[in-house]
Amino acid sequence: MQVLGIETTCDETAAAIVRLNGDGRGEVLADEIFSQTVEHAAYGGVVPEIAARAHIDHLDRLILAALARTGLKLADLDGVAAAAGPGLIGGVVVGLTMGKGLALASGKPFVAINHLEAHALTARLTDALDFPYLLLLASGGHTQLIGVLGVGQYRRLGTTLDDAIGEAFDKVAKMLGLPYPGGPQVEKAAATGDPNRYAFPRPMLRRPNADFSLSGLKTAVRLEIDRAGEVTPALVHDICASFQAAVVDVVVDRTRVGLRLFREKSGAPRGLVVAGGVAANGAIRDALKRFSGEAGLRLVLPPPQLCTDNGAMIAWAGIERLRLGLSSGMDFAARPRWPLDPEAERVNNGKA
Ligand code: KG4
Ligand code: ZN
Repeated sequence: MQVLGIETTCDETAAAIVRLNGDGRGEVLADEIFSQTVEHAAYGGVVPEIAARAHIDHLDRLILAALARTGLKLADLDGVAAAAGPGLIGGVVVGLTMGKGLALASGKPFVAINHLEAHALTARLTDALDFPYLLLLASGGHTQLIGVLGVGQYRRLGTTLDDAIGEAFDKVAKMLGLPYPGGPQVEKAAATGDPNRYAFPRPMLRRPNADFSLSGLKTAVRLEIDRAGEVTPALVHDICASFQAAVVDVVVDRTRVGLRLFREKSGAPRGLVVAGGVAANGAIRDALKRFSGEAGLRLVLPPPQLCTDNGAMIAWAGIERLRLGLSSGMDFAARPRWPLDPEAERVNNGKA
């Protein structure tokens, strides 16, 4: 089985072809990506309208490049998968419409993919991990702990009440005058800073639910910068190191509670998977390595290019669905919001 995957939910335009081999393992045959970082850098964040236009400009050439790289034609594919949300609606419509059009023109099944499901299933493409497992998804738009029990079976164990972790990194970077996206910049600056110079708060620490909250930490950083008056290189390094140390403590504590909840509700997980752009952070990776070692849990960290947004994860989610006989109709609409666990979402909204 060979499937084309299309990703356009945020600021990455991507097209990939993944093959399901006879041994049940996936193989990425082509993985084309155009990152719009430069387009958005001047604005310090993703501008939805610019993103949608850039997707239109680049998607067709990326799909052609993926086909050329593999020597395949549309007729050789077994299906077309496109991310249908959640994400910036203008961009989602671009990829979804392209996916439907190609499926229609080639007479192949079409699969609308939940972008979060694609992140959640990537560890099965890279490491053939069996269900069930615990997923920490931490990107610029999402921060969730999810019990992944099967295809289409997700239990949200924790979520952020305010900012996503990547978003917090980006905002701290912006306060310090570091360029966008801020995560890698903050990590770099932290390497030569003193993590103990500022005693930033660790929000939610030891709370019995596995939720996150980052806005108080972000405000504490803002206050410290205001107090300093002048932003010197030493200040930047120490703030970044102290902020990152606080995030690391929060991530480990929240993951520990998430694991406890997982065990209570769903038994023993086969592993802990970390995905999303924040999974590229070395300090977070090291802390989670120590944590999973102590917890006796297999840790799966997909390679960075498959942790951040990409087309291969969409194609793989398409394969996971198609091999269960699941596909989508041409009337499938783009979804700006699309929770993986609608029940958790409903309960949360009821409380709010
Ligand atoms: O998954 P991703 O590429 O895009 C989405 O948000 O969907 O994640 C990007 C986010 C950004 O907020 C970026 O600052 C953060 O991941 N990030 C990092 C690092 N690399 C990327 N955060 C902390 N440390 C890093 N090394
Ligand atoms: Zn993503």
